[in-house]
Amino acid sequence: MANKKVTIRDVAKQSGVSIATVSQILNNNQEKFSPKTVAKVMEAKESLNYEPDYFARRMIMKKSKTIGVLLPDITNPFFSMLLSGIEKSLYQEKYVMMLCNADLDATREMEYLEELSRRGVDGFIIATSAISNQMINETLRKKALPFIVLDQKKAEGFSDAVLTEDYLGGQLAAEHLANLGHQKVAILMPEEASMNIRTRLAGFQSIFPEARIIYSELSKVAGRDAARRVLEEDLTGIFTTSDEIAIGLYLGLKEAGKKIPRDYSIVGYDNTEMSEFVTPPLTTVAQPIFELGQQAAELLLERIEYPEKKWEEKTLPVHLITRLSTAPLK
Ligand code: RIB
Repeated sequence: MANKKVTIRDVAKQSGVSIATVSQILNNNQEKFSPKTVAKVMEAKESLNYEPDYFARRMIMKKSKTIGVLLPDITNPFFSMLLSGIEKSLYQEKYVMMLCNADLDATREMEYLEELSRRGVDGFIIATSAISNQMINETLRKKALPFIVLDQKKAEGFSDAVLTEDYLGGQLAAEHLANLGHQKVAILMPEEASMNIRTRLAGFQSIFPEARIIYSELSKVAGRDAARRVLEEDLTGIFTTSDEIAIGLYLGLKEAGKKIPRDYSIVGYDNTEMSEFVTPPLTTVAQPIFELGQQAAELLLERIEYPEKKWEEKTLPVHLITRLSTAPLK
């Protein structure tokens, strides 16, 4: 006979009790039944090698032990490190993740949010900027689905949030370049930048109000392409709003015969692993990426456990790591 999947009905039949009794006993409500009945059910489960259907259990337990994670670009090492931190905290509480990589596509972000809510995840970690508050209200808040926002998704005061000191980060990059004597400086950032990156710009402009703004998406390809526009300007100091842009800019400038830091001092942002391995090693503003992921997951699990607790916002510190991509202006 074909391997027919053993069902709860088979266990009930073999142990001579109702399906409801089997369900209760297998879902840790054994105290309601005699030891003899419990033993019969457990023996039938073992002999039939029955494994409860996880999603059927979810209907009873009202918990899937699954968290939906929405990220903009998993190919960016910042987000893969962030995911490692999220995963570590979830694993410790026996949760699994359902990852949706929106690939910087706003429509896909919203489709994923709806799909995740249909699949019964217990909560959401949202680090993408395109999810509107209206979308969150309609898809999550109305259904009282717990969620937390971080990074590119701005905190609006009606959810938990984990932030980092983006304004200070922009200031640290600017002060470092100013202390090295640079005055002709530019910032490389996306044209449609998310709030956290616009906050870095504000911090940088608090020191360099006249800084040139050169648009670049948060990628190595975009950074390499932006080199062309950097070369058109009279600049000596560059602040890129992510290490990915800086790494691409390195290649674009090298292809134009330029040397770092002889011709340009470059400051990155994130302190991803690559920033230490490029030549010259990149001066950058370090974000606590792994911890950011851990704290976001921990706050969300607390929210799931205590739905009524008041909103909590945490801000994690950033700091400058000085390496060899910056030097005093000669
Ligand atoms: O490298 C990706 C950048 O965008 C990081 O700085 C992170 O904060 C995200 O917002």
